[in-house]
Amino acid sequence: MGTAGKVIKCKAAVAWAANQPLVIEEIEVAPPQANEVRIKIVATGVCHTDLYHLFEGMHQKGFPVVLGHEGAGIVESVGPGVTEFQPGDKVIPLFVAQCGECRFCKSPKTNQCEKGWANKDYDVMSNFESRFTCRGQKVLQFMGTSTFSEYTVVEQLCVAKIDPAAPLDKVCLLGCGICTGYGAAVNTAKVEEGSSCAVFGLGAVGLAAVMGCKAAGAKRIIAVDTNPEKFDKAKIFGATDFVNPKDHSKPIHEVLREMTNGGVDFSMECVGNVEVMGFRIHYQRLGVSVIVGWTNLHDFSARPITLISGRTWKGSFFGGFKSKDGVALMVKAYLNNKVKVDEFITHNMSLDQVNDALELMKHGKW
Ligand SMILES: NC(=O)c1ccc[n+]([C@@H]2O[C@H](COP(=O)([O-])OP(=O)(O)OC[C@H]3O[C@@H](n4cnc5c(N)ncnc54)[C@H](O)[C@@H]3O)[C@@H](O)[C@H]2O)c1
Ligand SMILES: [Zn+2]
Ligand SMILES: [Zn+2]
Repeated sequence: MGTAGKVIKCKAAVAWAANQPLVIEEIEVAPPQANEVRIKIVATGVCHTDLYHLFEGMHQKGFPVVLGHEGAGIVESVGPGVTEFQPGDKVIPLFVAQCGECRFCKSPKTNQCEKGWANKDYDVMSNFESRFTCRGQKVLQFMGTSTFSEYTVVEQLCVAKIDPAAPLDKVCLLGCGICTGYGAAVNTAKVEEGSSCAVFGLGAVGLAAVMGCKAAGAKRIIAVDTNPEKFDKAKIFGATDFVNPKDHSKPIHEVLREMTNGGVDFSMECVGNVEVMGFRIHYQRLGVSVIVGWTNLHDFSARPITLISGRTWKGSFFGGFKSKDGVALMVKAYLNNKVKVDEFITHNMSLDQVNDALELMKHGKW
């Protein structure tokens, strides 16, 4: 007997509260309702935004929750009104909606669809609607996705159908980190041929930003990280210069200014640290500085003259990709050897080891 229309009991990693390890629990996943898709998650990555919500967000809202928002799977069943997906389709759940109809979806300037959790409370980082229960309690779905579960239910606006040839244990990484960094360089910064770039932070997001700078034809790509173990990887993706801020007594913006005769053309902050985002650090003469790192804890400020004199300061959400279209294209680009994905993988672990995976990322081993 199939599982369509029935509650599925399965394993998931539940975050009961902030600053506590995840607990592997049996949860109940309700059948998909109108315009929803139930997905069997085959593989998931771990992103710093999961870590941020659990350990750094400093808020108590948004729990209990199943984290994970960078996964890939197979459609198990669909709710009424779903015509785009069928059981058996390979898909990637999306934390950014693409309804295709709202004024934002129709504008080429933004990927901020009016629908989906991202228009609501950033501290909760979830819709209050959820199809999960555990021990009689409703459990939230992080960023509308929740990939640290064997099954999840996602609105059809937040699902990308991908090429059936795609290996799910690899392309899951296109659900967040790789598209975010690559798109920040290519779509948001619009890195130009022959330009100089600096990428701060060399996790999956920063490494993908390096790859995007290289694809756009940048001549010089300066990879900046306080963990020098990241530099070998950054080289694989195209970085030409490597700077560890800890090796310099001068502020990092002065080091970059000296290295580049006045400042880089493009810089991307892929750390999630307001100090690193600050203009003093991203000193550029005329450049474009893009904030990619995720934080909602502190304000930052800049002297008006820094912008008046011609610099541009921008932010990038999911690399500026329209989510459904962008993910499907990036999967194709991977299958055609136009973007790297395998090189991002450092460990293969089971769902039971999810706390170990988060610890590895916390300590820069990811
Ligand atoms: N804007 C978006 O849509 C979006 C999407 C995904 C992730 N993010 C955010 O992007 C950031 C990076 O994510 P990730 O998964 O690659 O994280 P990660 O933890 O794997 O990587 C962060 C890197 O920054 C380095 N770092 C720390 N402090 C530094 C400093 N002062 N200077 C230079 N490097 C420093 C760390 O050593 C590490 O290599 C996070 O803030 C994450 O929440 C944003
Ligand atoms: Zn992410
Ligand atoms: Zn929309």
